[in-house]
This record gives sequence, structure tokens and C-alpha cells, in this order.
Amino acid sequence: MSRRLLVTGAAGFIGSHLCEALLARGDEVVGTDNFDPFYARALKERNLEDLRRHPRFRFLEADVARDPLPLDGVSVVIHLAARPGVRPSLEDPASYSEANVTGTVRVFEATRRAGIGRVVFGSSSSVYGDATPAPFSEDAPAVWPISPYAASKRAGELMAHAFAHLYGVRVACLRFFTVYGPRQRPDLAIHRFTDLIAQGSPVRMYGDGSSERDYTYITDCLDGVLSAVEWTARTGRAGRGGGGGGGGAVAINIGGGARVRLDRLIELIGRTLGRTVRIERHPDQPGDVRLTAADLRRAERELDYRPRVGIEEGIRHFVSWYQEIHGRQS
Ligand SMILES: NC(=O)c1ccc[n+]([C@@H]2O[C@H](COP(=O)([O-])OP(=O)(O)OC[C@H]3O[C@@H](n4cnc5c(N)ncnc54)[C@H](O)[C@@H]3O)[C@@H](O)[C@H]2O)c1
Repeated sequence: MSRRLLVTGAAGFIGSHLCEALLARGDEVVGTDNFDPFYARALKERNLEDLRRHPRFRFLEADVARDPLPLDGVSVVIHLAARPGVRPSLEDPASYSEANVTGTVRVFEATRRAGIGRVVFGSSSSVYGDATPAPFSEDAPAVWPISPYAASKRAGELMAHAFAHLYGVRVACLRFFTVYGPRQRPDLAIHRFTDLIAQGSPVRMYGDGSSERDYTYITDCLDGVLSAVEWTARTGRAGRGGGGGGGGAVAINIGGGARVRLDRLIELIGRTLGRTVRIERHPDQPGDVRLTAADLRRAERELDYRPRVGIEEGIRHFVSWYQEIHGRQS
């Protein structure tokens, strides 16, 4: 018998891939999204194109911060709807609070009122700020976020803890480390750099190029999410730390398992596109962290998670997708 799951943020980058992965393994999926104007609706509609034709997929346009959720018959909620992006959150912090804090509380509240005890919440590596020693362990306090976006995600985790404690809801707070792959959000570095290099425009590099990120390929991220869905069905002692600390809410890092320097990433994209790269240097941006690096021991223990796609292979897949949708060959 198929299970019914609700995915919020279903028209987004990770959400649309996730809906496809759930359908592929036989689940029934209800997706919601409000087509937040953070990036073009047309791109999100394109993400939904194949899904809308699937007999086990149903879509409802709804805002998690305001509208009722379609929870009938749902056994697990995967909450990915959010205003993403670190730098834009400095411009309009209140909208981040509305979508990511109020929206997340409303999802938890509706879920528990519907008697659903299982939630996977899309959190972020940004909760670690820039004062956590690397690699980032979920046991670190993560109480010094350096952007409104990071603070909004940490607030969501703390709400998860409160709901888990009060109502016995089991929540996996997955801290995603820069996810990339086909359909990646246009604002994210890999997509932006690819656009600029493919057009022959200079790449704005913030800082001296030595900042490092742990990049997660989309299929690895999906493995983590699917495994977390099963994890929410298991009982047992919850791990400590981060979004957990007891009850049934636990923070788990989902990373790519390697640190990649910014200058190397730009060079790799240029090489994969077969283009010369022109770099314009700019000072570090406020809100950006210098380093992200996931400690994956908890993910391995709790979710049997092991990232499989390295940066070279992942960038090859991304660039192939990019060239296909732009009808452009390098
Ligand atoms: N992509 C990454 O590298 C990354 C890293 C860390 C965390 N995350 C988190 O993962 C989740 C998915 O990220 P993504 O990269 O796929 O982003 P995305 O913007 O492509 O997807 C998010 C979706 O949520 C929708 N949304 C926004 N506000 C909403 C609201 N109030 N009600 C309903 N829907 C709403 C948007 O329209 C969008 O389609 C987000 O919660 C994000 O914060 C992503």
C-alpha cells in the first residue's frame, strides 16, 4: 500500500527532486508551494512539469505561513518551504521571519493537530555561523548565527524541539550544506558562476578565493532526506545537540564530505565549460561565512548516510544540465 507524504516547497529545487524520488519509490505525494517571488515562477513551474502529469502527485498552491495545509491521510510531512538565501535576508529580514519562522511553526502546529507525529525539516549549515570549529558537529551550540536567514533556520529547529517535547512529534532537522545539481536555484554560486562564465562575463569573487564550502550533490541530499523519512518512524533515544537535545527533534548534517575552495570551484566550472574565466575581486560580503564543513558521523550512524558524488562529477552533471536547458554547447 502506498503512503501519502506532504512536501512543502515542492516547486523548488530540492522539493521538486524529492517529490520525484518519493513517487519513483511508490509513494503518494501531495506538494504545496506559494511560488514565492524570490526567483521566477516560470522556473518553478518548469520544475513541476513532469510531476503534474503523475497520477500519484497532487499539487496545491498555498502559503505555509497563512493557508491551511492539505494533511488528509498524510503520514509524514517534509517541510522544505522557505525563503532561502543568506545575502537577500539582510535586505528584508521580516519576510524571512514570516516564511521561515511563522511558516515553520504553522507547519508544526497543523501537523500535530492532525495527529501526524513525523516531520523532516529542511534546516541549514548556516546555523553554525562563523564561530563553530570545523568540521561542524551537531553538538556545537549553534547560537551565533550571522544572518537573519541563519537565525530563522535555527529558530525553526528550536520550535521543532519544543513541539517534540510537548507533543512527542519526531522531527529530523536536516542541516543541508550547499546543495547543487540540475535545477539549482539561480541565485546560488555554482549556478551564477556557470551563467557568467558561459556568457563570457567576469565572475565577481568575494574575498581572496580561499573561503571553503562543503557542497552536496542533489542525489546525496535526497538519500539523506529519504533515509530521514524512515528515521522518523523509528523510536529510541534521540541524539543530543543542535536542533535536538532530547525529545524527538534531532539535528543531522547532510554534507558532501569535502571542502572546496572558492577559487578552485570557479576554475573547475570554467574548465568543465571549456571557457576562460575572468575574475573580478571584491571584499568579503557581510553575512557570508568563511567556511562550511560537515561532521557526518551522526548522519552515518542515524541515517546510514554516505555522500557518493564528488565535486568534479557533480559539476559535470550540473554543466550538462545547464547546457541542455540553454541549448548551448561550449
Ligand atoms: N539549496 C541549498 O543549498 C540549501 C542549503 C541549506 C538549506 N536549504 C533549505 O532547503 C529548503 C529548499 O531549498 P531550495 O534550495 O530547494 O530552495 P527553493 O527556493 O528552490 O525552494 C523553496 C520553495 O519554497 C517555496 N516557498 C517559500 N516560501 C513559502 C511559503 N511561505 N509557503 C509555501 N511555499 C513557500 C518557494 O516558492 C520555493 O519553491 C529550504 O528550506 C532551504 O532553506 C537549502
